[in-house]
Amino acid sequence: MIKPATRMTQALTAGIFLAAAFAAPSEAAEIKPGPDAGEAVHHGEALARLNCARCHEVGISGESPNTGAPPFWSLSDRRSVATIARMLIDQASPKHSGMPTFEITEKQAEDIAAWIAWVQPLAHGRRLVTENCSSCHAVTLTDESAHPEAPPFRLISKRLPIEALEEAFAEGIESGHPDMPVFDVDIIQLQDIISYIASIQTTD
Ligand code: HEC
Ligand code: HEC
Repeated sequence: MIKPATRMTQALTAGIFLAAAFAAPSEAAEIKPGPDAGEAVHHGEALARLNCARCHEVGISGESPNTGAPPFWSLSDRRSVATIARMLIDQASPKHSGMPTFEITEKQAEDIAAWIAWVQPLAHGRRLVTENCSSCHAVTLTDESAHPEAPPFRLISKRLPIEALEEAFAEGIESGHPDMPVFDVDIIQLQDIISYIASIQTTD
């Protein structure tokens, strides 16, 4: 007799082999959760990459390999992260055409949901800086600033600590540099922009 736990392990192992066989080289440098992100997020990322990435884009930007599968970064456009978590944990979803039924444990569903929750604000922040800042600043891990004096965001922490960004915006960051337009961002947008900028900090 096969115990449920063993079946689940087998299902996951099968998924792992499939994912390994179809894994495509990633096109852009990926943003990885830092040490603060917590065990669930790290574990959820690994599960998502192994089990979901052959159809869904599971990172904070980019398109899904299966165009019918929404990228994870866009999932909160349709439903709240809490609802998605509930759907995954209750196995109420995925139950739509094209999407296989997964035998994942409640813990695994929670971890994938934690990853999906981690992705949302960063994806939102990335969209905001792409729309509002990329005409001057480099906004990813690899691009160059279009404005020669605008620091790439990935190097901002060389100039000022990330914790100081919120205050800098509150005081009107535009006052420091005349070429920079005034932005009317609300607090959620600002927090997401700062989370995103924090997530891409490098030293070189
Ligand atoms: C074989 C392809 C495939 C795989 C693998 C896959 N999905 Fe999907 N998924 C889809 C498709 C297609 C849709 C869109 C279905 C629709 O809109 O009706 C979808 C939709 C979703 C949605 C949105 C549901 C909603 O109604 O808002 C969630 C959440 C989701 N998938 C989670 C996952 C997770 C988590 C995994 C990995 C454990 C995964 N998917 C693996 C194909 C896939
Ligand atoms: C029109 C061009 C332009 C746009 C658009 C722009 N910036 Fe800037 N930004 C600059 C320039 C130029 C500097 C460098 C100014 C200097 O060195 O005095 C700068 C500097 C900064 C700094 C560093 C400030 C410091 O004190 O060191 C931050 C943070 C910043 N920008 C954030 C943003 C954000 C966030 C956005 C989008 C919401 C944005 N910028 C959009 C031109 C721009």
